[in-house]
Amino acid sequence: MDQQVNKLREFLRDAKRVAVITGAGVSAESGVPTFRGKEGLWRDYDPTVLATPQAFREDPKLVWEWYDWRRGLIATCLPNPAHEAIAKLEASCEDFLLITQNVDGLHHLAGSQNIAEMHGNIWRVRRSAPPHREWEDRTHPLADIPPRDHDGTLLRPAVVWYGEMLPSQETAKVERFFSDPPDLVIVVGTSAQITWLIGYVQQFRATGIRVVEVNLEPTGLSGIVDLTIRGRAGAVLPKVL
Ligand code: APR
Repeated sequence: MDQQVNKLREFLRDAKRVAVITGAGVSAESGVPTFRGKEGLWRDYDPTVLATPQAFREDPKLVWEWYDWRRGLIATCLPNPAHEAIAKLEASCEDFLLITQNVDGLHHLAGSQNIAEMHGNIWRVRRSAPPHREWEDRTHPLADIPPRDHDGTLLRPAVVWYGEMLPSQETAKVERFFSDPPDLVIVVGTSAQITWLIGYVQQFRATGIRVVEVNLEPTGLSGIVDLTIRGRAGAVLPKVL
């Protein structure tokens, strides 16, 4: 791994504009379960079933029980050295964007500033009927399950469920940043199964942007990136940065 770490250090030395894309693997060392890992605590619930608009329509109570449990668990988790290294990298770059699939808010806690939360944030709720106002709500456990607004409207987690569109203000951040191709993209801790992510990385490769992957295991990206580093994000990133 040291040879690849030195290679990534070299890439970073010449890089002024850097983007980092993160998945659940970056929060795994903070104790937040991943989605597809065998150790994923979500195994009692199937995210592909519960994290859907239809599950919420059919049984908002069950969906909120799962989110209340996740919020309670995430509330006990702190940023790990991977989150901290990414925040430090941002401070040392001329221009930086963090694109995360994670909804746990740990990147904010670690001090990252310029973040595109592509799948929303588990600490925000949104009215499920117009006006679709959204706000931060950190109460856990929730007083009522499912929670409602003062007019009785069901509230939903302000996260992106399967089959839903990505938040336009977040995709706009990505498009704006990539309108001037960065020198380097580092993809950390994601199984890269989500189509928008695969599409972006293929686009980066097509435009000659250098892409590096950091992951415990090989993924669908491993064969198309410039460099893949096998290892824990919490060990590799602090070493590199
Ligand atoms: N360091 C680096 N990588 C790790 C670590 C670690 N300590 N622990 C796990 N990983 C890697 C795993 O090898 C796997 O490739 O992190 C990845 C986690 O993959 P998933 O559980 O599929 O999570 P993610 O890729 O973020 O899922 C993407 O899918 O279910 C939806 O919306 C959900 O945001 C999620 C999206």
